[in-house]
Amino acid sequence: MDILNNKQPIMELKGINFAYPGGRQVLNDLDFTLSGNDRIGLVAANGSGKTTLFHVIMGLLKPSSGSIKIFGKPVCKEKDFRDVRRRIGLLFQDADDQLFSPTVLEDVAFGPLNLGKSSFEALEISRKTLAFLGMSEFEDRITFKLSGGEKRMISLATVLAMEPEVLLLDEPTTGLDNSTRETLARVLDTLDMPLILISHNPDFLAVATDKIYSMENGRILTDEQVHFHYHYHAHSRGAIPHKHKEQQ
Ligand SMILES: Nc1ncnc2c1ncn2[C@@H]1O[C@H](COP(=O)(O)OP(=O)(O)O)[C@@H](O)[C@H]1O
Ligand SMILES: [Mg+2]
Repeated sequence: MDILNNKQPIMELKGINFAYPGGRQVLNDLDFTLSGNDRIGLVAANGSGKTTLFHVIMGLLKPSSGSIKIFGKPVCKEKDFRDVRRRIGLLFQDADDQLFSPTVLEDVAFGPLNLGKSSFEALEISRKTLAFLGMSEFEDRITFKLSGGEKRMISLATVLAMEPEVLLLDEPTTGLDNSTRETLARVLDTLDMPLILISHNPDFLAVATDKIYSMENGRILTDEQVHFHYHYHAHSRGAIPHKHKEQQ
């Protein structure tokens, strides 16, 4: 399917329910659609279930009920999600969940090698990706000795080296200094692909996304229910007249 033909949604989640064992309901009859060239910013309080939603989309967590369709096909079993994980790149919230090889170049090359590329091709893609992110000089560095921000960028390199069609980015700016954050914003602006970006950074969201959704009570609130105000925050009463603390 041509995902740029945005008539057909890239993903469609319907009536998703999920709770961690012994925990409260995190996703509660959640509906969500990502279409052709949507670039959605997801802004919601800590603990509202954003990361959980990403993990459900990637098949890392299994909802107790609901249906998921990705690239036009129902996905349910592990086998179905293998294709999803090949075509959708997830940047984990915690870089330590993403990086596991001794050196940066090995980590970035792991994905392409796993996709069946030759060592030569995998190295070529990895070097190109690192250069694209301005991280070439990190090629031979020991992964676990990198700073948090450096790990973040190398994690993104491991995702992009797989040449995904869609990106899910879980708080990508965490630990980044201003200049690296600007590089990342430029990189995302250059990448012409649909994405969902979890972030609390309004300036970054303004550059990288074109609509803002939120989450509350285990459900997605779309643009119409949430909008950014001039003083940059999103909340579920966006469309309803209300006052803010500083005005009261
Ligand atoms: N592995 C887990 N086991 C049990 N509870 C979890 C686990 N991961 C997250 N939670 C809980 O699920 C809720 C949603 O978490 P999460 O999806 O990480 O939220 P967000 O990404 O929006 O901050 C939180 O209350 C969190 O404490
Ligand atoms: Mg999270």
